[in-house]
Amino acid sequence: MNTATTTVPVDIRPGKSNAYPPGPPFLPRLLSGRLFTGTPTTNMTAAAREFGDLVHFKVFDRHIYQFNHPDLVEDLLIKDAAKHSRGIVMQRAKVVLGEGLLTSEEPLHMRQRRLMQPAFLRQRIAAYGEVIGQNAADISTNWRSGTVIDLHTEMLELALRIVGKCLFDLDVQSREEVLKISAAVDAFMGFLPLALLPFSTLIQRLPLPAMRRIHSGKAQLDSLIYSMIRERRAAPGDRGDLLSMLLNATDTEGNSGSMTDQQVHDECLTIMLAGHETTANALSFALGLIAQHPDIQQRLHLEAAAVLGSRTPTADDYPRLPYAHAVFAEAMRLYPPVWVTARTCEVPYQVAGFDIPKGAVLLAPQFVIHRDPRFWPDPLRFDPQRFTPEGKDPARPRFAYYPFAAGSRQCIGEGLAWMEGALSLATIARDWLLTPTPNAPTNIPINPAISLRPKNGVPLQVHRRP
Ligand code: HEM
Repeated sequence: MNTATTTVPVDIRPGKSNAYPPGPPFLPRLLSGRLFTGTPTTNMTAAAREFGDLVHFKVFDRHIYQFNHPDLVEDLLIKDAAKHSRGIVMQRAKVVLGEGLLTSEEPLHMRQRRLMQPAFLRQRIAAYGEVIGQNAADISTNWRSGTVIDLHTEMLELALRIVGKCLFDLDVQSREEVLKISAAVDAFMGFLPLALLPFSTLIQRLPLPAMRRIHSGKAQLDSLIYSMIRERRAAPGDRGDLLSMLLNATDTEGNSGSMTDQQVHDECLTIMLAGHETTANALSFALGLIAQHPDIQQRLHLEAAAVLGSRTPTADDYPRLPYAHAVFAEAMRLYPPVWVTARTCEVPYQVAGFDIPKGAVLLAPQFVIHRDPRFWPDPLRFDPQRFTPEGKDPARPRFAYYPFAAGSRQCIGEGLAWMEGALSLATIARDWLLTPTPNAPTNIPINPAISLRPKNGVPLQVHRRP
C-alpha cells in the first residue's frame, strides 16, 4: 500500500469476526437484485461513512469488498492488478458485447489494446479536434433562443456523431438515424444490470419486453456495424481511423491472417458503447451544473470567447482552455460517468490483513471517493477552481480522483474524452446562456445505471448570446 502519497491514513476498522472487515449484514437492495437501480450510490456512501475504508458484505454467497480510500484503490488498480480479472458484470456481458476491449481478458485484451492504441494517441486525437469543434458548433443550430432543450439528448447525439466520425469515419446523417442508434444503444445498455442477476443466462432467454428491447437494440447495432465492415472490406484502404486499423491488422498474433469480422465487430460495438454515453453524461452534468452557477458559466464564457473568437474550435485551442478543462473535470468529480470500478479476485491475497478469497468482487466506487470530505473540502460544492493550476491541492492523493480508472484497463478513450469535453463546453458556453427551468431541483437527480446518468435528462432554458 502506498501510504506515502497521502497524509490521511487508511481507516481500517475491526470486523465482526477476524475473517472479514466490517460491513452491513444485509443490503435489501442488493439482495433484491437491484444493485444498479434505486440508490446504490447512497448505500455505498453510507457504508463507507459507517464502516471505514474497507467494507465487506455478501450478495447471495458472493463476497464483496468495497475499497473507500485512494491508497487501497491505487493498489487494486496498479500493484495488485494481475491478481484480478474484469468484474463479473463484464464477464456476463460477453453474451451481448462479445470479446471487445471492455470484456476481454488477457492475453487477448492486451493484444487488442496494443493494436487499437494508435487510434487514441496524442497526434491522432489532435486530428479529431476539428471534428469535435465542428460538431460542437453544429449541435446547436436547431436550438431556438428562449426555449427549453433537453441537453442530455443533445449531448448523446453530439457524442455519437463524434465517436462515429473520428473512429469509424461514419457520417451519421439525419437526426432520426442518430436517435435510432441512440435508442438502440440505450436498450442495449439495459442488458448490463440484468447481467448481474443470478440466473441471468436463463432470464436472457425469456420473452420479456425488456429482453425484446435489448435484442432488438443489438440487432440494429449489429446490422450497422456489419454493414460498415462489409463496405470497407469491399473497398480496402487506410482511412486513418480505428476501423482501418482493425481491418488492416495482421492478426492478433501476427501469424494467422487478419482479424475476423466477429472480432472487429466486437471491438467496434464496444467503442461505440463505451465512448458514447459516458462522455455525453459527463457533458450533460457539466452543462446542468454551469446553469446553476452563473458566475462559473460567465467565467467559462469569457475564456471561450477570448480564445475562440467566433471561429470553429480546433485541437490547438484545447491547451488554451484551462477553465473549460477544469469545469469538465469538476463535473466528473461530482458525477463520475463510471461511478464504480469492479474487479474479480482470481488469486487470493490479503488487503489490510484480511484474506480476499478467489471469486470475491472488489469495488472501487468513484462516486464515494470523489465526494469524500477527507480529500475534498466542502465536497458537494461545484468548484472548478479545484482543478485549475493555481487551485490544485498538491497534498491530495492521486487516486482521490480517477474518473478514467488506471493501470492496464485505464480508459483508452481518455484523451479523446478530455478534448471532447473541453472543446464542446467552450463552444456551447461561448454561444449560449443556459439557465435552469423554474422549480428545477438544485441537485441534478441521478440514475446510477451501468453509467451514472441524469435521471430526468438535463432540461435547460437556452438563450443565444449576442
Ligand atoms: C468522460 C468520458 C469517459 C469516461 C468517464 C470513461 C471511463 C472509463 C473507465 C473508468 C474505464 C475503466 C473501466 C474499468 O477499469 O473497469 C473505461 C474503459 C474504457 N473506455 Fe472509457 N470513458 C470515457 C470515454 C471513453 C471514450 C470516448 C472511449 C472511446 C471512444 C472509451 C472507451 C473505453 C474502452 C474501450 C475501455 C476499456 C479499456 C480496456 O479495458 O482496455 N471511453 N472508461
